[in-house]
Amino acid sequence: MTSLADLRKSYERAELSEDASHADPLQQFAQWLQEAITAEVPEPNAMTLATVGSDLRPSTRVVLIKGFDAGGIVWYTNYASRKGQELAGNPFAALQFHWVELERVVRIEGVVEKVSDAESDAYFHSRPLDSRIGAWASPQSEVISGRGVLVANAARYGAKFLLQPPRPPHWGGYRLKPDNWQFWQGRKSRLHDRLRYRLADTGAGAGTGTGPSWVRERLAP
Ligand SMILES: Cc1cc2nc3c(=O)[nH]c(=O)nc-3n(C[C@H](O)[C@H](O)[C@H](O)COP(=O)(O)O)c2cc1C
Repeated sequence: MTSLADLRKSYERAELSEDASHADPLQQFAQWLQEAITAEVPEPNAMTLATVGSDLRPSTRVVLIKGFDAGGIVWYTNYASRKGQELAGNPFAALQFHWVELERVVRIEGVVEKVSDAESDAYFHSRPLDSRIGAWASPQSEVISGRGVLVANAARYGAKFLLQPPRPPHWGGYRLKPDNWQFWQGRKSRLHDRLRYRLADTGAGAGTGTGPSWVRERLAP
């Protein structure tokens, strides 16, 4: 086994400065996501989602971002899954992208709500048929007796719905509305760049009235 204590890497690809970053974290995120896609990093749209259960224990899993705008970051899943149950009890969650080749991380925290039925319907019906059947076939996060259960369920729902599976009532989207963003760029000698954006106090006179007003701060690495 390789010595884990000796595994280390120097990060030297780029820098992230106050001057060169956007004042709006959404624009900064859009730029970095596009750069990750352009650089053809593996699965640039994969993000880790952290939720917290009623027992106060955190849990994480990977999901795919399916959209983002000023309203928040969207992904799709099974509402009855572990993450769905945890979000039903506690809507605060965190997301993390790690674009290894670019030596970049984005962390996003906020409050989660379900997207509208119309939005979930539109996305569901844009998916390939086997994915739509899969949404019916998998009782996500439940214990099953074997893989055969999934294969049998897929065959059963495939025969039942043929080419027109409706969206399952337990399947749809979530949107995380960010109140805190962090952008991390690896630098030499562990002196990494970290910029955090947090919502400004919304007291009288805050912001321009055209959108949220963000405070950008540098954090020690
Ligand atoms: C690259 C990747 C992308 C994934 N995308 C999704 C997704 O968009 N939605 C989803 O429900 N699960 C997705 N999964 C599976 C989840 O990581 C996880 O196994 C599943 O959602 C069950 O999580 P839970 O039991 O914590 O609710 C993905 C897994 C990987 C590795």
